[in-house]
Amino acid sequence: MNVLVVGGAGYIGSHMVKMLGKLGCRMTTLDNLSSGHRDAVLCGGFVQGDFGNQTLLDQVLARGFDAVMHFASFIQVGESLQHPDKYYQNNVVNTLNLLNAMRAHRVMRFIFSSTAAIFGEPQYTPIDERHPQQPINPYGRTKLMVEQALADYDKAYGLKSVCLRYFNAAGADPEGLLGERHDPETHLIPLVLQTASGHRPHISVFGRDYDTPDGTCIRDYIHINDLCSAHWQALQSLMRGADSQAYNLGNGNGFSVQEVINTVERVTGRKISLEYGPRRAGDPARLVADSRLAREKLGWTPQYPDLQTIVEHAWNWEQKVA
Ligand code: UFG
Repeated sequence: MNVLVVGGAGYIGSHMVKMLGKLGCRMTTLDNLSSGHRDAVLCGGFVQGDFGNQTLLDQVLARGFDAVMHFASFIQVGESLQHPDKYYQNNVVNTLNLLNAMRAHRVMRFIFSSTAAIFGEPQYTPIDERHPQQPINPYGRTKLMVEQALADYDKAYGLKSVCLRYFNAAGADPEGLLGERHDPETHLIPLVLQTASGHRPHISVFGRDYDTPDGTCIRDYIHINDLCSAHWQALQSLMRGADSQAYNLGNGNGFSVQEVINTVERVTGRKISLEYGPRRAGDPARLVADSRLAREKLGWTPQYPDLQTIVEHAWNWEQKVA
């Protein structure tokens, strides 16, 4: 199997490339290194460039691939509210151009990184695939637009896709070779770990007045390798001729911000200095996935479902880069 991994130098993409390599796949990473890292691409070919560059995309796709996995998105909700142009251009326009280039080269399988943000404010939890889709920010809307385009591209052109809606991607390569390196970092677990390692004076808890047992927001943290194994199983399903499908990916267990901080204290043996701040705009109180469909249809079983292990792997990585 030969896979084009767009955005393979980023956090999730780089773990995917490593896993594909272990599974004996051939792959090429296309990444402009705007937020990814060349040294995170541990195997396969590498082309530095923007997937919005049509000429380059044509040249790369001409090499021939069985499928494309697409990780090259902007992901910050707050930024998407300030600069929606950037999000619609990259996450929607460039992605549609990618799909059209794929069609031109007869690459007709696509694995798409989608998000829990397509659901907006939850109407019930855990959130299954039938939950209404009403994103409340441009980031979520860009992802939903691509999901909708993919459904139309399947009907009209037979382009098969799997949309994987991540809840909170977390953790790091269990072998310690890869991890999260966002700049700026906005995600809770790496921020708390950077506080543990002394690189930040404290962690700000965004709101303690939510309707949750301890008043802080609840999220469903899913190990990066478990996300990647879902991609692999999704790809295999398409190779077997399965229909296009969307899946919600999480462990089905919610942990509050306070519980994450407590877990970091346990794992690191260090006291975390925290301060309580106001709510962050656009944060739902509780996001927990119902992933039964992925378990049933893909045979997906998370290997690292407990938060302690997720934090241990992330801490292992933080100590390497600190
Ligand atoms: N949080 C803090 N302090 C911080 C950072 C985060 O209290 O310094 C809280 C947030 O308010 C939230 C929780 O920690 O309650 C998790 O926040 P993250 O930023 O780590 O993750 P989000 O749940 O905001 O974001 C994730 C994905 C996004 C996606 C979103 C969908 O990372 O890409 O879920 O809602 F858009």
